[in-house]
Amino acid sequence: MEKKNIDWGNIGFGYIPTDYRFVSKFKDGKWDEGELTTDPNVVLNECACVFQYAQTVFEGMKAYTTEDGHIVTFRPDLNAERLANSAKRLEMPVFPEDRFVDAVVKTIKANEAYVPPYGSGATLYVRPYMFGSNPVIGVKPADEYQFRILTTPVGPYFKGGAKPITIRVTDFDRAAPHGTGHIKAGLNYAMSLHAIMDAHRQGYDENMYLDSATRTKVEETGGANFIFVTKDGTVVTPKSSSILPSITRRSLIYVAEHYLGLKVEEREVYLDEVKDFAECGLCGTAAVISPVGKIVDHGKEICFPSGMEEMGPTTKKLYETLTGIQMGRIEAPEGWIKVIE
Ligand code: PLP
Ligand code: COI
Repeated sequence: MEKKNIDWGNIGFGYIPTDYRFVSKFKDGKWDEGELTTDPNVVLNECACVFQYAQTVFEGMKAYTTEDGHIVTFRPDLNAERLANSAKRLEMPVFPEDRFVDAVVKTIKANEAYVPPYGSGATLYVRPYMFGSNPVIGVKPADEYQFRILTTPVGPYFKGGAKPITIRVTDFDRAAPHGTGHIKAGLNYAMSLHAIMDAHRQGYDENMYLDSATRTKVEETGGANFIFVTKDGTVVTPKSSSILPSITRRSLIYVAEHYLGLKVEEREVYLDEVKDFAECGLCGTAAVISPVGKIVDHGKEICFPSGMEEMGPTTKKLYETLTGIQMGRIEAPEGWIKVIE
């Protein structure tokens, strides 16, 4: 298959439309069969529930070209499960998990020409999403929904690629204030838009959000979970019921323990102890593992020994093992890699 003429090595994290997207509609209590379409526009009634009450949830995953030329995706069953949990929390019907995986496979296959080649540094980002589509004016869920999957080729999430970033501790909350932070709902991201623009205006790449009840514990950033490494090489990751259960983080914990023989602690992490860690990174589908060089807490700087020039040694090992598994250089645990073709 001939690839599209795109300068793969120089694309950022933006939207480049591809040829096909998937759409399935829910009406009269059931999902239709679904189909691929070439039309990137969605036309809805002005009073659609998604516009008025933000009834929308989404997922994020990637398709990779492996070293031996296959196209694969990573643990799509976990995205299917998380989308189902997000949908239930917003009173939306679940798109069946096996059908989710089939639709993802079908959509990636149809857009094969846009899956960046092995070694280009780019990937095809896959965005499944669902929204309430019929008019409602009283505060209640819609009766009709669309489940869609769009794809777009992407480069690094943070400008500067693998260079460490600077983040700040923020007083804003990331999510809507009703214990919804663990689901991938549009409303949580809408709540974070002001915080992220405010951080950018002040020269920071991202925010470190704290727990909203006590403001002493580390939660996550706007689009990724934290991982820390102690001076004696233990991997530490915050445990909280209000952060997004990152598939990347769950995979890294496994990789740290089973591939690298590292000790891992998933526990509450206090802001006070962050200054004692040797390395810090942000992990997620978009972020992969982005090293953090510096955290600024209301004017007080926490500089990690790993510095602002490159990834710390343990972060680098985690990065190389995870991306090695995703790109087919390292054998994956059973069930992690779904071969598209
Ligand atoms: N936290 C937030 C708020 C996110 O948006 C994401 C991205 O999906 C993550 C964490 C990382 O999750 P995952 O590794 O499943 O992509
Ligand atoms: C992802 O990593 O898939 C995300 O959703 C993060 C961001 C692009 C919102």
